[in-house]
Amino acid sequence: MYLTREEERIYDGEYGWAKQVCMKIMVKLGELYDASRLIPVESAHVSGVSYKTLGDAPTDFLEALADAGEKVAVEATLNPQSLDPQYLAERLPESLVKTQLKLCEIFQKMGFKISYTCTPYYIKTPTRGAHLAWAESSAVVYANSVLGAWTNREGGPSALAAAIIGKTPDCGIHKAENRKPKIMIEVREPLEREVDYGALGIFLGKVLEDKIPLITGLRNPTPENLKQLGAALASAGMVNMFHCGGTSAKIEREHLEKITVEPKNIQETIEELTTTSTSKPDLVFVGCPHCSPSEIREIAEKMGDRKVREDVEFWVCTSRYVKEKTKSHVQKIEASGAKVITDTCAVVTWTDKLGIKTIMTNSAKTAHYAPTLNKAEVQLASLKECLKTALKQ
Ligand code: F3S
Repeated sequence: MYLTREEERIYDGEYGWAKQVCMKIMVKLGELYDASRLIPVESAHVSGVSYKTLGDAPTDFLEALADAGEKVAVEATLNPQSLDPQYLAERLPESLVKTQLKLCEIFQKMGFKISYTCTPYYIKTPTRGAHLAWAESSAVVYANSVLGAWTNREGGPSALAAAIIGKTPDCGIHKAENRKPKIMIEVREPLEREVDYGALGIFLGKVLEDKIPLITGLRNPTPENLKQLGAALASAGMVNMFHCGGTSAKIEREHLEKITVEPKNIQETIEELTTTSTSKPDLVFVGCPHCSPSEIREIAEKMGDRKVREDVEFWVCTSRYVKEKTKSHVQKIEASGAKVITDTCAVVTWTDKLGIKTIMTNSAKTAHYAPTLNKAEVQLASLKECLKTALKQ
């Protein structure tokens, strides 16, 4: 792999051990995936911020990097951590809260933006065509497929290294030839609800292997519908982008393998992800991936003046940035007894330690992970059904 003189100096340790380690991560990855060089990135987005998913070992490494005075070289954002300062910190064991807060301090010391969101694109939209080094799989698919930016699915360590070096190996879908669709998906009946888009993502994630799909038959999906599709696609499989709608107009289709998706595939996927039929879940959770401003508005409008039932918690998860931007809707949602939670989500916090054993959600990604990561039973349902369950009628 070709390195510039400057990159070589970093590799040889002339700028200290911390940058050297980061450069070595980049080079190792580049060699593994046949990159010929490193390319500059516009931004990096780091996952593995929640102490729940990160664990102890990497914390020492992060602390050492920060103590060595390392700072990010590009705009760098953070995925959700495990706490919401307003609602969850005081309900969780003190030792966990302390360690999480220490981790957050370490990232801040390195110059990361205090974003704690899986939807960093609502804070700042990446430039179309820009190269990124993002690690949150749902954001990776959204950036590639909806925003037209270019990023591989980085791991936590490689996104961190990219943030510090400001570059990433030129491989995978940073190269135009690797972004072409290999398979055509024909969705037979237009999808109506956000949960159907998520179910489509899970279904495709399981059948596509690593083939980038061209998806046809979606009727005017909203960006939020595509966010659900991409988040689920990435959680059930290895694909990091899809083509659909306007972006796919010029694609040659004749040589593509074809798969059709019938309504029954969507319905069966929802049923497979649903592990309980209880009408009284402990938690109703929407906002995976974190809500956009229009989703917050939609939830506030659909709730009307109804109140949350006493025997259920209702969480709406978003970033602190979006919460701040949508104050009047947030007030309305919170007046009902629901909690607009920032910085975290049901999956990356310790719901089991909060006594939550059953979760109803409109997110197929959450439904996919919650049985293992939350040790919870799940009900996957539309936003409308989630609201019906959470609110007094
Ligand atoms: Fe985001 Fe948590 Fe879902 S990090 S994508 S809301 S699992």
